[in-house]
Amino acid sequence: MSIIERRPQSQDLRDWLVQMESAGELVRVKGADREREIGGIVDIAMRKMGRPAVLFEDIPNYKPGFRVLANLFTSVKRIALTLGLPGTTSEVDLVRFWRDYMRDAPTIAPTEVNTGALLDNSFEGDAINLLDIPAPRWHEGDGGYFIGTGCMVIMKDPESGWVNYGAYRVQAHDKKTASVMISKGKHGDILMRKYHDKGKPCPIAVVVGVHPGLFAVAGLEIPFGKNEFEAAGGLMGESIRIIRGPVTGLPIPAEAEIAFEGYVHKDDLIEEGPLGEWTGYYAGGRAMRPAIRLERLWYRNDPILTGAIPGIPPNDDTFYRGTARSGVVWAELEAAGVPGIQGVWSHEAGGSRMWLTVSIKQMYAGHSKQAGLIASQCHAGAYANRVVVVVDDDIDPADMDKVVWSICTRCDPRDDVQLLHGCWSTHLDPMSYPDDKHNMNSRMVIDACTPWNRRDTWPAVVCNTATLEQHVRERFGEVLPPGW
Ligand SMILES: Cc1cc2nc3c(=O)[nH]c(=O)nc-3n(C[C@H](O)[C@H](O)[C@H](O)COP(=O)(O)O)c2cc1C
Repeated sequence: MSIIERRPQSQDLRDWLVQMESAGELVRVKGADREREIGGIVDIAMRKMGRPAVLFEDIPNYKPGFRVLANLFTSVKRIALTLGLPGTTSEVDLVRFWRDYMRDAPTIAPTEVNTGALLDNSFEGDAINLLDIPAPRWHEGDGGYFIGTGCMVIMKDPESGWVNYGAYRVQAHDKKTASVMISKGKHGDILMRKYHDKGKPCPIAVVVGVHPGLFAVAGLEIPFGKNEFEAAGGLMGESIRIIRGPVTGLPIPAEAEIAFEGYVHKDDLIEEGPLGEWTGYYAGGRAMRPAIRLERLWYRNDPILTGAIPGIPPNDDTFYRGTARSGVVWAELEAAGVPGIQGVWSHEAGGSRMWLTVSIKQMYAGHSKQAGLIASQCHAGAYANRVVVVVDDDIDPADMDKVVWSICTRCDPRDDVQLLHGCWSTHLDPMSYPDDKHNMNSRMVIDACTPWNRRDTWPAVVCNTATLEQHVRERFGEVLPPGW
């Protein structure tokens, strides 16, 4: 289905909740506390409960009606439904969707409105109390309460006026203070430094609780200079309704659940972290990070804080970003001139970055090696990667059993495993070089395709022919799984 053919999305998180509940994708939990129980349940929901979205209600010691929602995107079905695709969309079809979206991302400009549900409750000055919101301690080892994980952090270029938003973690400290952790080189970091280099405070707005389609754009690497509100409009199929923050002038989604605006002043740092991170470790530790001094706070009646919780992958960060990243790697492989790409899959357990499988229809000697080496170094694939596997076109790259079978039966480690040294990584990668301040790593590229020079004599694969499958479907359809 093309991007244009999809149904336009409501921009209201509450409509999404109704949609997910009716699709059997939502579990409600009453009475869990924010100190340990919410995080504990999210962890178990990921490991043992089939990864539903979880809505926490009746949170002890908080106003009735204040809620927390976690696990927005921890199933392919929820991601597909959020994007207006059928719930039955396969992994590789979802990747195709992202590939097409990223190749030629449609844009729709936001619309400024004067009103919106966000304005139900508005606070300024001493009336601001960020601690009204039940931000959880998501993991037992976290150094505080993170109000922002499934969030949008909005900033503006002081020179060009370009508006950017990204998902950067935000810790709540006291009534009027939060902090933000933005990795070096991310757009938010570049914009903040522009203000501080001029000796000015950086205006900032943080939004927590929007329709997950709008949030999704926050975690995607939309190119520098492109307005993420316009990209989100294109993804959602309609213009994003925004209000202007009266203090900062920044655009804020009118149907958001919770938002605040204020300033980050130069050299105003506060101790932050750690937060259990997407690689599955408390990497990054506790450090001094920019403080956000709040000047406005808004929330809807009965607000919902959304969390996208990192942890041992698969986690909320890895599912949708994995499918999106796979789509971009696919597009970048094609742009680099590699033909015959059948699919790309960034395995969830690799945290959306560390494991990439590429399926190709082999066309010439050296084709599979070319695909693997480029996938491991193209822009979307290079950062923090550890393993790239290239498989033939009879293998679904999202089917890990088949990928492992290919490695076991079509790869000769003497010749088909390449080790690359000194590659682009991060301090969150626990295997990045410990003695290297640049956090480089090494990685392997596994060619698990049928050897090109043996393709004519390669033994036949043991599996049903299409004729037998058709016959069995016709005769015994009632005992076979639905849709098979
Ligand atoms: C749930 C989630 C949490 C994230 N947390 C952080 C973070 O704390 N700091 C950071 O620099 N990037 C974080 N990221 C990654 C950025 O959001 C991502 O790289 C995004 O493209 C940044 O936006 P930008 O390209 O406009 O800088 C997170 C992503 C997600 C999905």
